[in-house]
Amino acid sequence: EVGRRQRLLDAHKIAAEFYQRNLYTPAAREAQKFLGARGFDPQATRTFGVGFAPRGWDHLLKYLRNKGFTDEELEATGMFSRGNRGLYDRFRGRIMWPIRGIAGEVIGFGARKLYDDDQGPKYLNTPETQLYKKSQVLYGLDLAKRNIAKKKQIVVVEGYTDVMAAHLAGIDTAVATCGTAFGAGHIKVVRRLISDDGSGGEVIFTFDGDAAGQKAALHAFEEDQKFVAQTYVAVAKDGMDPCDLRLARGDAAVRSLVANRRPLFEFALQATIGNYDLQTLEGRVRAMRAAAPILAGIKDRALRPAYIREVAGWLGIDTDEVQRAVTYAVNHPQ
Ligand code: GTP
Ligand code: MN
Ligand code: MN
Ligand code: MN
Ligand code: MN
Repeated sequence: EVGRRQRLLDAHKIAAEFYQRNLYTPAAREAQKFLGARGFDPQATRTFGVGFAPRGWDHLLKYLRNKGFTDEELEATGMFSRGNRGLYDRFRGRIMWPIRGIAGEVIGFGARKLYDDDQGPKYLNTPETQLYKKSQVLYGLDLAKRNIAKKKQIVVVEGYTDVMAAHLAGIDTAVATCGTAFGAGHIKVVRRLISDDGSGGEVIFTFDGDAAGQKAALHAFEEDQKFVAQTYVAVAKDGMDPCDLRLARGDAAVRSLVANRRPLFEFALQATIGNYDLQTLEGRVRAMRAAAPILAGIKDRALRPAYIREVAGWLGIDTDEVQRAVTYAVNHPQ
């Protein structure tokens, strides 16, 4: 259904322009303030096509109906919800980030709540549609794809504001997943860009230091077992995300964050071991058993002995003992 797809793309293009125009009106004062306080001037918001969805139930609905879209088409865009009395705007009183496909076409939106007394989650995205598949989409990929292919490096950050901050700081390979974990579908997309010739590349994850960020890193580690690229994690000491880091300490701090990346397995080891009480022998032995599969998964075989020694040191357990646990893990993959 080529015609149908094009209709949905047209509706998105017009909606993105509508939201973007709205950002520069007096009604968007709070949105402008929010973006300014995050370190984004009008030039930055224009580069990313950031917009504003006004409060109210049918601003976009009326606008797109007037442009000749049927309610059936509009519902299929995911930009509207259906209630007793028909369709209404899904995004209200929110900052809008157009999410683009790899060729730059708008396929959905990420939207942040602006007013504390409003209902709904802090971030709201387009639901699954014919155009928008959240398991594959990477925010910023249209801007980053050439740099990713050239540098054979991709920096995965958590949010829309983090992508903007990273690019403004000179990290032009930054992308973000949209309200979902980095998974197999994203890996497929990335692999096409950085490991076309099988020579691999670097995937660098930056997470903020909270529990969700740590979980995301460990999840990425599981996916990494199927991945050809070298995987790294860059977490700021105080757990700041790239947007906050840029605000607090400037562009150079964002660049250092990425420069000071650590191998993902090192991060995963520390996070895993951190779950155990190392004051007791029992805790240390359990930590060793939990760490063994991670050590066994280190793809660079030359590095493995070094990390086995490192973990033995952290745990105060004999290196040979840790080596035995790793050998066991190698022979008994989970
Ligand atoms: P800001 O206050 O906007 O800076 O957010 P944050 O840095 O505290 O965001 P957080 O680290 O919690 O989340 C980063 C990314 O996770 C966002 O850009 C969203 O893509 C996603 N996310 C966070 N909260 C929600 C939510 O409530 N729903 C959904 N679907 N995604 C969310
Ligand atoms: Mn977080
Ligand atoms: Mn948060
Ligand atoms: Mn964050
Ligand atoms: Mn943030």
